[in-house]
Amino acid sequence: MQTQVGIVGAGPAGLLLSHLLARAGVASVVLEARSRDYALRRVRAGVLEQASVELLIETGLGERLRREALVHHGIELRFGGARHRIALTDLTGRSIWIYGQQEVVKDLIAARARAGGEIRFEAEAMSLDGIDSPRPRIRYRRGGEERELACDFVAGCDGFHGVAREAVPPSALRTYSREYPFAWLGILAAVAPSTDELIYAAHERGFALHSLRSPEISRLYIQVEPDADLADWPDDRVWEELRIRLACDGWTLRDGPVLEKSLAPMRGFAVEPMQHGRLFLAGDAAHIVPAAGAKGLNLAIHDVHVLARALARWYRTGSTNLLDGYSAACLPRVWRAQAFSSWMSSMLHRLPGSDGFLGRLQRAQLEEVSGSEAAARSLAENYVGRPYEREAGPGEAPPR
Ligand code: FAD
Ligand code: DHB
Repeated sequence: MQTQVGIVGAGPAGLLLSHLLARAGVASVVLEARSRDYALRRVRAGVLEQASVELLIETGLGERLRREALVHHGIELRFGGARHRIALTDLTGRSIWIYGQQEVVKDLIAARARAGGEIRFEAEAMSLDGIDSPRPRIRYRRGGEERELACDFVAGCDGFHGVAREAVPPSALRTYSREYPFAWLGILAAVAPSTDELIYAAHERGFALHSLRSPEISRLYIQVEPDADLADWPDDRVWEELRIRLACDGWTLRDGPVLEKSLAPMRGFAVEPMQHGRLFLAGDAAHIVPAAGAKGLNLAIHDVHVLARALARWYRTGSTNLLDGYSAACLPRVWRAQAFSSWMSSMLHRLPGSDGFLGRLQRAQLEEVSGSEAAARSLAENYVGRPYEREAGPGEAPPR
């Protein structure tokens, strides 16, 4: 079996890369360890930056997105029992969209199927060979058999726990990581959201977030211990904790049946460079950010936008310029997102020391972003995300 670009992983990064490459006339095969059903059901992120939405719409993925995504012009910070709005659009001219990662994945799988694209589900990559050669190979297992996919390039889009990153010799990769001392417990619930805009709440019992998916479906998170066990968190306890942490005068939290419940550890992680030989890492395979900044999915989308352009240039002209510059084009956005997500995390969560000096610092920061337009604008600019670089080379159409 062979193709031009072998893609490991059918999360948003791998699927979108395959879609963008096909639009540029480059063939790819996506190998995904899990089943199609699993990929379609996995509940994760929900906030899309304006630049992500623009890319999806411009590349023909906007039909359902335009109809169903909810545009938001602000978020709320809730602390000390009071509400403080950050007017994202007034402060930046830009907005965010609420559209579940699940829906993005669904749209991408449908678009690849319509275009005759090849996604092999239940095909688990075991290892990569020859990434320093012009003909790398992906060894994978499917239906109990070992097989091989030969390609010109490999895109490692297999998430944080994938195998692609392991193919790079340790001496060629620098790893940066930080464990945050908390996890998030997330629920998806069949109840109309109790809010029109996302609420980020800092409370002495810990952080809480009220998000949503649609006029009928709410998405909520609470900070829990890093070693928390879902068995200790029956639905009633989750709702009770949400009610306490989100409480403020004149507002009540509606509850309803819990459709899904999961735990996510919080970590910061990044490798440099994001490439080695003919292997390119994208999305969570290359970096993880703590969720308070809502950046993980958006970074994955940006990476593959850059990578698709670079691969298309190579196939069109033989030039390695953009491929050579792949990491350098992605990493500034990755580190900006790490810094923002880390700052949001440290301001909003209950941490060791929050009862004392640190707690006073956290409160001072929250008051600063709520009271100073300059500070609020900085938060808003980071939250809505920056526009993409759109420069094209001489004689090239703008990359869309
Ligand atoms: P993934 O979505 O992880 O996709 C990787 C794919 O590769 C998976 O389908 C996996 O099955 C497949 N794979 C792995 N190993 C192999 C292999 N050996 N062979 C073949 N296939 C393989 N971000 C936010 O902004 N907000 C959130 O609320 C949020 N919640 C999250 C909750 C959890 C539990 C997790 C893990 C992440 C969350 N994120 C969140 C982050 C966001 O969802 C990710 O940044 C995003 O999924 C990255 O997309 P990706 O395609 O790079 O990786
Ligand atoms: C959602 C997730 C986030 O990490 C976040 O910061 C905001 C919203 C969500 O799943 O809706």
